Amino acid sequence: MCGIVGYTGNAPAVPVLLDGLERLEYRGYDSAGVAVVSRERGLQIEKCKGRLSALREKLDGQPPLAGTAGIGHTRWATHGEPNDVNSHPHVSQNGRVAIVHNGIIENYVEIKEFLLHKGVAFRSDTDSEVVAQLLEYCFNDHSDPLDAVYAVLERLEGAYALGILCADRPDMLIAARKDAPLLLGYGDGESFIASDATAIIAHTRDVAYMEDGEVAVLTRAGVQVFDEYRRPIEKEHHFIEWDVSAAEKGGYAHFMFKEIMEQPEALRQTISPRLRDGRVVFEELHITAEDVRRFRRIFIVACGSSYHVGMVGKYNLERLMRTPVEVALASEFRYSDPLIDKDSLVIVISQSGETLDTMAALREARNRGAYVLSIVNVVGSSIARESDDVLYTWAGPEIAVATTKAYSTQLALLTMLGLWMARCLDRVEQTEYDAVVSELEALPAKLAEVVSSTEIYQYLASLYFNQECIFYIGRNLDYALGLEGSLKLKEISYIHSESYAAGELKHGTISLIEQGTLVMSLATYGPLLDKAVSNIVEVKSRGADVVALTTEEHRQRLEAIASHVLTIPRTHPVLQPNLGVVPLQLFAYYIALHRGCDIDKPKNLAKSVTVE
Ligand code: F6R
Repeated sequence: MCGIVGYTGNAPAVPVLLDGLERLEYRGYDSAGVAVVSRERGLQIEKCKGRLSALREKLDGQPPLAGTAGIGHTRWATHGEPNDVNSHPHVSQNGRVAIVHNGIIENYVEIKEFLLHKGVAFRSDTDSEVVAQLLEYCFNDHSDPLDAVYAVLERLEGAYALGILCADRPDMLIAARKDAPLLLGYGDGESFIASDATAIIAHTRDVAYMEDGEVAVLTRAGVQVFDEYRRPIEKEHHFIEWDVSAAEKGGYAHFMFKEIMEQPEALRQTISPRLRDGRVVFEELHITAEDVRRFRRIFIVACGSSYHVGMVGKYNLERLMRTPVEVALASEFRYSDPLIDKDSLVIVISQSGETLDTMAALREARNRGAYVLSIVNVVGSSIARESDDVLYTWAGPEIAVATTKAYSTQLALLTMLGLWMARCLDRVEQTEYDAVVSELEALPAKLAEVVSSTEIYQYLASLYFNQECIFYIGRNLDYALGLEGSLKLKEISYIHSESYAAGELKHGTISLIEQGTLVMSLATYGPLLDKAVSNIVEVKSRGADVVALTTEEHRQRLEAIASHVLTIPRTHPVLQPNLGVVPLQLFAYYIALHRGCDIDKPKNLAKSVTVE
């Protein structure tokens, strides 16, 4: 989704902005632009459709834009097609203000009509341009830019993270936020804004997260922040724990591959601090055992891969806690008039912590009195801040659009939460509890074993990269795992793929199986191995090629019937999907590599989905 970076300091702004935009590329975009301001030349803007390289080329072919304050933007089109004119920054009619905007201005038609009546000429089809035009219009009544900004914000409905430059204030940058992420960066004689810390991490790790309604004025001298009533406020500073190398490829061909390989360490960081003397300990949680005993219903709400984590979580939490768990897609949940009340626990899962549908579901749950506990990767993100409790997955920054290490850490953390709650309810046998804890301790090492050799996935990808459709089948936890394997494949390789509960095949899907169809049969869930074997026979007898995924001890049995067998080490059943997902990630990765796809930035996708 759209990205914002802004700078004011002593250095030329353009290189800082371009570097920041490059680091935001992973979020997905279709156009990019920068604006800088100087006393001599006023506002100077360059923007265009396409990759950042196109913008760089345009900038290289002209005298440098001059200014030590500027704003940059990568756009992911919502209102108006991706083209040069609709790209940000947008500049007002008489060139007094330039703005970059993330989010959607819901009442832009009304504002546009008002301004058209006043004789303002619009250039773009975007909702965002109204902010620039309205600001210039408000400058007629307010000579102080901050007065004008507050007057504009009063009229805006919808979501916004805004970066604003004024032609007559060449060292000043104004930022405003409502329902779209924006953070402030504090440097030495320089200040930054960014929609995501990765954009400025090369310059500073000292940041503050803006809250809804806040407005910030940044100059070389520092940052002043005001609340919605324009009262000055002191922001709490946060230190970003990871450094710039975590957001770079470090010799790997793709971020996705690097992040797959980082999974053992990400799991170690997530699990180890929360295991003590053979027990799961969540020092960061406010929720008590008494609260857990009070909950009559548990919901897990998320989107995409995070939802797939929830699917695994349902099986695991119900097994461990013997409490009914419902899993819901956030985009459905928010409009479903959900049956939740103060005795409900809503577990919200999100890597970015900014997914709009998930955020809306969270608010819906809180409005209805539920207790919201979120599992989030990005520290200080909106979902983390609005939850009653938060558990962070310490996966580090995830840059590839397709999630891997965030999925893995979410999965482990959700299972740990289930185990902890089961203990609060006194519903888990000590032997089962001990077995899960001991396998949690062993999990990073077992995962390291899985990622240590990749030849088999490369080989299979070389055989199957031309398939038109690939099916994933499995039962119970393997069904939930298949959903993620199938999504991974389709999002990065563009091969059509479906995931089915294997028992459903005979109710329709099996008619799609023909000679040479590839079926990935997931058979890691020991108790249902016989059923998995029957399903393999069923599809083989209709001509399918079957790649089976199972645990080491079942290799021989599956080799007798499947075309190829992938194995993973055995662990406790509730943790088996944590090992099972890695071969599926690697298979998808190598298939996409063979097909020459843009693996880290698949078409039409964005890393953080901040629109509905
Ligand atoms: C798929 C993927 C997406 C996200 C989904 C939710 O690889 O990454 O499906 O899982 O957009 O995002 P978060 O977890 O940031 O809320």
